[in-house]
Amino acid sequence: MPTSTFRIAVIPGDGIGKEVVPEGLRVLDRLAARSNGALAFELETFPWGSGYWLETGKMMDDDGLDRLATFDAIYFGAVGWPTVPDHVSLWGLRLAICQGFDQYACVRPVQLLPGIRSPLRDASEERMDWVVVRENSEGEYAGIGGRNLAGRGTGTEIATQTALFTEQGCERIIRYAFELARTRRRKVTSVTKSNAQQYAMTLWDDVFARVATDYPDVETESWLVDAMAARFVLRPETLDVVVASNLFGDILSDLGSALAGSMGIAASANLDPERRKPSMFEPVHGSAPDIAGQGIANPIAAVWTVALMLDHLGLADEAAAVMAAIRATTAGGTLTPDLGGTATTSEVGDAILSHL
Ligand code: NAI
Ligand code: MG
Repeated sequence: MPTSTFRIAVIPGDGIGKEVVPEGLRVLDRLAARSNGALAFELETFPWGSGYWLETGKMMDDDGLDRLATFDAIYFGAVGWPTVPDHVSLWGLRLAICQGFDQYACVRPVQLLPGIRSPLRDASEERMDWVVVRENSEGEYAGIGGRNLAGRGTGTEIATQTALFTEQGCERIIRYAFELARTRRRKVTSVTKSNAQQYAMTLWDDVFARVATDYPDVETESWLVDAMAARFVLRPETLDVVVASNLFGDILSDLGSALAGSMGIAASANLDPERRKPSMFEPVHGSAPDIAGQGIANPIAAVWTVALMLDHLGLADEAAAVMAAIRATTAGGTLTPDLGGTATTSEVGDAILSHL
């Protein structure tokens, strides 16, 4: 049988990124081992991150994007450390890759797993199952603006941070959301703040209405972001695919993760749906300096992220097997402290492997 080989670039990054990524890699190893030679993963690990910046003054090498471009996918941990300004670490690595490779769709599932308690009193696995589709290339994180433009000096400094919305940018992410909805319960909810932001967000609304006419089989709604925050908590069962701008999607997906029980289980994919360049897969959470080095970080987000990566690589059966192993692990009660348990990172990793 010929071997399907996938080349994965691995960037553990900082803090708990370095603790949870190895658990995801163990899962890849296991899948390869049990495939009897049908499947192989060629891994190359890159040392980039805040430690690298402190040593070299760079978050990643100058030719970093060129080197990453040759891989089938990028598996990323988390970046950020208290000794490095957050805007340096974020723009120097994660945003450099997402924007450099035009990974315009950030996809973040929210799903309650068996055996996990949601902070919502009446949560159930049936009520909590939706996906946040976050625009990942422009919007509020376009990086346009400046500080102290007129040299006004300390105390009278000014800053602008301009959001960029293009018709093409809106259209491609909204279309992606509709396509995803067709694989689920066929409902797309668009989130904006058009009453207060009357230019960019009404452009988004207009594009949403136009694209919707191409998907008559998909139910649509438009909601304001403040009301949507409340609806995540009060009526989560009414959500299927939620499409939002970069900032709103960022905030709403953290809310969703918390409702599903912990940041430690939330997975995320930064996709280029057109597959011009590799897509990047990372947990939603950051480097968690408060618990780093203790061996208690929850690896489920990182392992669920592997499932998203496998799906993108066309390995749907393997992705489903990983999700089943995660569900069996939580149902069996092997939980890290963020979920009220006492298990360590590697004990949860062991439990997941035992179900594969
Ligand atoms: P964070 O996600 O690192 O941590 C928030 C809280 O959730 C902490 O109390 C942490 O202990 C807990 N937590 C997160 N992941 C967990 C896990 N797997 N298991 C158990 N508990 C977990 O967010 P925070 O504290 O705002 O940021 C820390 C650093 O991470 C900052 O430098 C920030 O810029 C960076 N960051 C990086 C991201 C990325 O690389 N994509 C995303 C978010 C933050
Ligand atoms: Mg975030």
